[in-house]
Amino acid sequence: MTATASSTQPSPSARLSAAPAAYPAPMYPHKATEAQHSERRIRSFQPRRGRMTNAQAGALDRGWERFGLAIDGTPLDLPSLFGGLPVTLEIGFGMGETTAAMAAADPMTGILAADVHTPGHGNLLQLLERDGSENVRLAAGDAVILLRDMLPDAVLAGLRVFFADPWPKPKHHKRRLIQPHFLDLVLPRLAPGALVHCATDWEPYAEQMLDVLSASPELENLHPEGDGTGWLEPADHPAGSVPGYAPRPDWRPVTKFERAGMAKGHVVHDLLFRRR
Ligand SMILES: C[S@@+](CC[C@H](N)C(=O)[O-])C[C@H]1O[C@@H](n2cnc3c(N)ncnc32)[C@H](O)[C@@H]1O
Repeated sequence: MTATASSTQPSPSARLSAAPAAYPAPMYPHKATEAQHSERRIRSFQPRRGRMTNAQAGALDRGWERFGLAIDGTPLDLPSLFGGLPVTLEIGFGMGETTAAMAAADPMTGILAADVHTPGHGNLLQLLERDGSENVRLAAGDAVILLRDMLPDAVLAGLRVFFADPWPKPKHHKRRLIQPHFLDLVLPRLAPGALVHCATDWEPYAEQMLDVLSASPELENLHPEGDGTGWLEPADHPAGSVPGYAPRPDWRPVTKFERAGMAKGHVVHDLLFRRR
């Protein structure tokens, strides 16, 4: 009987293709995104007007209504948007190469991909179209507003922050995303067991991430012994195996910013924590 019952239940992927368009917004939300940029608060990004290629603009025209949503404060129904798949939030996907690769490799995980960067939205839509991936929704705007106003508690199966802007100057450190008050916003949105995955090529920021994440009793470091040596071979790593960092997971493809960091000789650190 179980077989009959399950054969009448649509699979998560079938439900996903039947899921509604991400947001009834035929227009790309330039205005909403610009309004958020002027909200008086310290932001983790530099507002910038990127130039879109024709191909990116075309993908935005074709795909936004189906896959895009504005970060405008409207509460989201993730189970309905993602057909019941577990959903991981990725903050700052940049041009989206890594997001697209991870989505294609794991179609049974939904990715809510947030960034403020318009050409990146077009580029990611182009990649999703190329791969035929359906398990990504693009959120345009500040992920802090998304977390603060649009997501209910215990709704996320994971959080990814890959190569967040490092804000190297001391006067800009307050702009770094991974800070105790950001974690206060994130933790309630994570379901028990959710995986928090950060990576950075900026050593002082890696230390800050490790301090902030380790300070939370609600998170467990999956690699407290520090068997991580970053991207480089141990012999090339100036610090050897550093306690607290994870080995580079082979399921995280190299990102655009990571490549640029490595070309400058930066050491990459991954951090993997689980919500208790
Ligand atoms: C240094 S880039 C890294 C991009 C990509 N993850 C990579 O590794 O190639 C950081 C990205 O985070 C985005 N970002 C920073 N703060 C953000 C926020 N609060 N909400 C959404 N996106 C943000 C920036 O727009 C930028 O695209």
